[in-house]
Amino acid sequence: MTFQITSFLYIIALWFPWVESQFPKACVNLESLRDKTCCPTPNGFKAPCGTDGDRGECQDLIVRRWNKAYSHYQEFHKGDDRHNWPNALFNRSCKCKSNFAGYDCSKCKYGYHGDDCNQKRLLKRRNFAKLTNDEKHRYMSYINKTRYVDSDYVVSRSSYQEIQDRTVAGQDPTSLFHNVTVFDLFVWVHYYAARGPVHADNLTGTVMDFAHEGQGFLTWHRLYLLAIERTIQEVTEDEEFTIPYWDWTVNEDKCEICTEDLLGVTEGDGTVKGKYFNDWSTICTYEDTLMTQMCDPATKNPVLERLKESDKKKMKENGYHMTFPSKKDVNFALRFDTFDLPPYSADSSCNFRNLLGGFINTTTGYRLPNVHSLHNRVHLVIGGAMSSSLSASNDPIFFLHHSSVDRVLEKWLRKYNKNASVLSSYDAPLGHNRGDLIVPLFPVFTHENIFKKSFEFGYDYEDVDEEGNSPDDEESSLSSLGLCPVVRNKEPDDTVEKCTTCVIIASILGGIIFFLLISLSTIAYRHFHKPLAVQPLS
Ligand SMILES: *[C@@H]1O[C@H](CO)[C@@H](O)[C@H](O)[C@H]1NC(C)=O
Ligand SMILES: *[C@@H]1O[C@H](CO)[C@@H](O)[C@H](O)[C@H]1NC(C)=O
Ligand SMILES: *[C@@H]1O[C@H](CO)[C@@H](O)[C@H](O)[C@H]1NC(C)=O
Ligand SMILES: *[C@@H]1O[C@H](CO)[C@@H](O)[C@H](O)[C@H]1NC(C)=O
Ligand SMILES: *[C@@H]1O[C@H](CO)[C@@H](O)[C@H](O)[C@H]1NC(C)=O
Ligand SMILES: *[C@@H]1O[C@H](CO)[C@@H](O)[C@H](O)[C@H]1NC(C)=O
Repeated sequence: MTFQITSFLYIIALWFPWVESQFPKACVNLESLRDKTCCPTPNGFKAPCGTDGDRGECQDLIVRRWNKAYSHYQEFHKGDDRHNWPNALFNRSCKCKSNFAGYDCSKCKYGYHGDDCNQKRLLKRRNFAKLTNDEKHRYMSYINKTRYVDSDYVVSRSSYQEIQDRTVAGQDPTSLFHNVTVFDLFVWVHYYAARGPVHADNLTGTVMDFAHEGQGFLTWHRLYLLAIERTIQEVTEDEEFTIPYWDWTVNEDKCEICTEDLLGVTEGDGTVKGKYFNDWSTICTYEDTLMTQMCDPATKNPVLERLKESDKKKMKENGYHMTFPSKKDVNFALRFDTFDLPPYSADSSCNFRNLLGGFINTTTGYRLPNVHSLHNRVHLVIGGAMSSSLSASNDPIFFLHHSSVDRVLEKWLRKYNKNASVLSSYDAPLGHNRGDLIVPLFPVFTHENIFKKSFEFGYDYEDVDEEGNSPDDEESSLSSLGLCPVVRNKEPDDTVEKCTTCVIIASILGGIIFFLLISLSTIAYRHFHKPLAVQPLS
């Protein structure tokens, strides 16, 4: 299901020439936009980027340009507003020195704190279910708080052209940007990365998702969690706060943390009710963003929805596995020492990244249409906002889920001790390559910057040791890779063997892609004749 439908909908959706963006308030003024420079002066300093305190300097922001060297590149990509992001609005930004960080160098790098940012710190992300009652409520009340505090970033639905035209004409462009709450900013950022191309004249079922279905999926979400975790620490003035993880493997098909006083219960009509959900609202939901108009952060949907029992039943009848992923599924993924394989998208088989993402069958190791396992399965079983990659982070369970996904990534990184050299530089979808920027987090990071053990960023996971093992891991004697070829203990220069594998996989993929194209039309046809409660996954 997933993006075959989305893509099809994009073809028939109305094309608005609008685009969106999010940048620090301090950079959204006539002067900064005209000079394409986002180098604010931090509080307590006199010069941009705190140069007078040796914190950083305002420098050209060099981004990797999209071009034909990328194997996933297509002409229409040029028309998307995220093209060479964020160059359409800014091409100069603060380059911070030593351990300083942030868009104005007023903050510390992840993992450091103190006035001079020279104290290292390691915080633990903990299992939500094992927290004390007070700690569980701390998460909920902190999230609640972010829904009432204004962000220091603003978002825009106007086209870059419109913004530029205004600044060139010397008019104040501020009114084209909107204030949002901290929580809505993060919902927006996820939506912005995941939504399809806007100027897609020749769209032929193409996905353009900077956060999902590609090599960069795990690093994108790792940075996203770091950013919101840091922001929650700031908003609540609780420097020690970490995002807990929800270990869904202990649930069969019922979410045990979804109780009235914590993550809420789902009513018969799919509405989430509970202590923290009485005044919940959502933005950028599937209906808003796909069929009628681009997301307007000011348009609030007054409810949060999850999958209702009747739809769950229907989906089961339609052949969906409606149980949460098991430890067995996680363990299977962790046996793959190959991080990713061509085409580095949702269509690759026999690799850790796409297994954890959830497009691969955890028995065979192969990608097949309509397989939803691991990460995807959790989105599907929770349903509602969570079942669409555009709206998923409206649900506070999203962050607990992704913390759990990130924990599995961390186990992999520690187990196999690999670095970013395993990432492809040109053959992953746009925005997912090793040196590509993680769109649209600002200040900017590349996937390579983030593909590192969590110690580098000052956090650790409860129950994961330095080798990536946990007390409840499987016996190390289990080693089945399903139907995948066993390519173990490769020498660094066994190119011949690697390429043989590539060729085999490429031909299998060829078949699968053909099959996908067939199912695209079938599914799209079915969708319009018998709407299902299934939406694209995140
Ligand atoms: C940044 O943008 C400005 C305005 O369009 C342009 O004059 C300048 O050459 C650009 N700088 C870089 C490094 O691209
Ligand atoms: C947005 O917030 C700023 C303060 O950060 C305020 O000055 C401005 O008036 C707000 N804009 C709107 C449209 O509410
Ligand atoms: C779309 O395809 C047509 C015909 O192939 C071509 O003339 C046109 O330039 C294409 N438009 C874009 C934006 O690629
Ligand atoms: C959420 O925050 C608002 C604003 O601070 C507060 O009025 C409300 O009581 C909070 N909700 C809960 C359940 O704590
Ligand atoms: C995975 O493949 C196995 C063997 O073909 C099959 O029995 C199982 O139902 C598949 N699982 C999913 C989730 O599709
Ligand atoms: C990354 O790993 C490769 C292969 O194991 C190794 O050759 C390289 O030196 C490593 N790079 C860094 C920066 O550690």
